[in-house]
Amino acid sequence: TEYISANELASLMDVSVQEVISVCLSMGMFVSINQRIDAEAITFIADEFGYEVEFISAEEEIQNEVVDVVDDPEDLEERAPIVTIMGHVDHGKTSLLDYIRSENVASGEAGGITQHIGAYSVKTKSGKQVTFLDTPGHEAFTAMRARGAKVTDVVIVVIAADDSVMPQTREAINHAQVAGVPIVFAFSKVDKPGANTEKIREELSQMNYLVEDWGGKYQSQEISSKSGMGVDDLLEKVLLEAELLELKANPDRRAVGTVVEASLDKGRGYVTTILVQAGTLKVGDIILAGAHHGRVKAMTDYLGKKLKKAGPSDPVQVLGLNGAPQAGDKFNVMDQERDARELANKREQILREQTIRSRKHITLEEIGRRK
Ligand code: GTP
Ligand code: MG
Repeated sequence: TEYISANELASLMDVSVQEVISVCLSMGMFVSINQRIDAEAITFIADEFGYEVEFISAEEEIQNEVVDVVDDPEDLEERAPIVTIMGHVDHGKTSLLDYIRSENVASGEAGGITQHIGAYSVKTKSGKQVTFLDTPGHEAFTAMRARGAKVTDVVIVVIAADDSVMPQTREAINHAQVAGVPIVFAFSKVDKPGANTEKIREELSQMNYLVEDWGGKYQSQEISSKSGMGVDDLLEKVLLEAELLELKANPDRRAVGTVVEASLDKGRGYVTTILVQAGTLKVGDIILAGAHHGRVKAMTDYLGKKLKKAGPSDPVQVLGLNGAPQAGDKFNVMDQERDARELANKREQILREQTIRSRKHITLEEIGRRK
């Protein structure tokens, strides 16, 4: 990919374009003022002028624009852990989530159809709040991580006791490991004939993951999402893990957080599920989320209940954005609508240019191939 023109590079380094061109010439490269230069050449030229080049993607550039406030430690308050459930296909992730949701939502509160939202929050029997990210799969997790979003505090890796540690189990473990997120293992389907948790423990130990029952450091729990056996204990173990992290956030500041998912609803416009990570989001706030912006018209929780505000670790659906940001995009509350709009437009332009540039690249290659 070609990044910037000789002219732009010169002005970034505060030298004349003639100087850049003559350095290029000395390298046997003929460039004109407006010619775009590739990464390797940029690095080389910059080095000649005593500069070190750092390539950041458009996405990183975008995330870095809004400078975050640094919180005073005194303002930090305990927040609920954010938990993601991962594991191999059919090992029981959805069943576990469904069981937790149905058992821990006060009956009557639901009042009709529970809508699918990518994140929800429950109060456990011990009275603690836990937020679950209902990620559709590993791709979503990877995509979010690739976009610099760190949202999960604890990962539950579900392994079916009547099966084995499978490729996606390993993948889940690796994802958590790379992200530096603690793991709690859930050995699911223990009610099934043929369930053999000892075999699973053995397989994990071969991967150097020794569970506590075997003298290791990883917490694990046998569960059945059918009968509910062990699910409360699993949640307590997750909470224990979370306690060690001393999760805190300042609720009294402009909200910041991450987009979980977004879609266009015929009647309501763009519906964005976001996770507030610090501060308190209120109806009427101006938000900037990825390349989109808007004023929060309404907020609801996963049961569709209207909310006026949402604090740290709260997942909410927001109405009022002018487009659908991507999962993993950061959101910020802004003071001025004008600033939000300007930044959103600028980000959109960066993303568009990036697409055009990569598209151009593809076209050139295709032309080359046809010859
Ligand atoms: P994907 O989303 O396709 O990756 O699967 P999943 O991990 O969400 O698995 P899901 O919860 O859909 O469960 C797969 C099958 O296993 C379903 O038929 C469930 O009814 C069954 N199942 C899940 N948990 C249990 C359990 O604890 N006991 C028994 N007997 N069956 C279970
Ligand atoms: Mg599922």
